[in-house]
Amino acid sequence: MDHAEIITKTIRFVKDTLKNAEGGHDWWHIYRVWNNAKLIAETESANLLIVELAALLHDIADSKFNNGDEEIGPATAGNYLRSIGADEETTLQVQQIIRHLSFKSGFDEQVFNSPELAIVQDADRLDAMGAIGIARTFSYGGFKGREIYNPEIEPDLQLSKEGYKNSTAPSVNHFYEKLLLLKDKMNTPTGRQLAQQRHEFMEAYLKQFYLECSFK
Ligand code: NI
Repeated sequence: MDHAEIITKTIRFVKDTLKNAEGGHDWWHIYRVWNNAKLIAETESANLLIVELAALLHDIADSKFNNGDEEIGPATAGNYLRSIGADEETTLQVQQIIRHLSFKSGFDEQVFNSPELAIVQDADRLDAMGAIGIARTFSYGGFKGREIYNPEIEPDLQLSKEGYKNSTAPSVNHFYEKLLLLKDKMNTPTGRQLAQQRHEFMEAYLKQFYLECSFK
């Protein structure tokens, strides 16, 4: 099976698996991350098949929708890749990337690093920033029944891994607890450059948001 055939097959599998996914983690999130990853990969030296497969499969089964089971994503991706006859080295690398990708694992010491992980992580982080990041934050907050804004609840800047997973804070707090921190976590020059522009857009958005929410 050649590169294009594996990718076409994988797209079909991902679209089908995610057809009832929450709006911020649906096929179109995957589509944006996949395209951002290809863009970043143009200026990096990395194995493009591994980058594309990891981007396409990175949210195939998210622990936050599966009772916190953090192995379900890598396991689902691994089963799929073996079912289409992908070689074992590729499968293991894609699984490692998925395992280490999430923001939550950023709380643990990073024990695995590869150029492909750096690219896909940047691509996924970019989709949590800018206009799309704002849309996804409020969409996910609505899905979880969270408030949009509550001036009586301050953002928690010392959030632990458990606190982050179990947060019930208003959606806008998420900007301070995650989104505005992403710019300084980017791995690649292209990722950093794209992140800067999205970061500035979020800052402008928040400025307007508080303007509209404050009364004398
Ligand atoms: Ni994602």
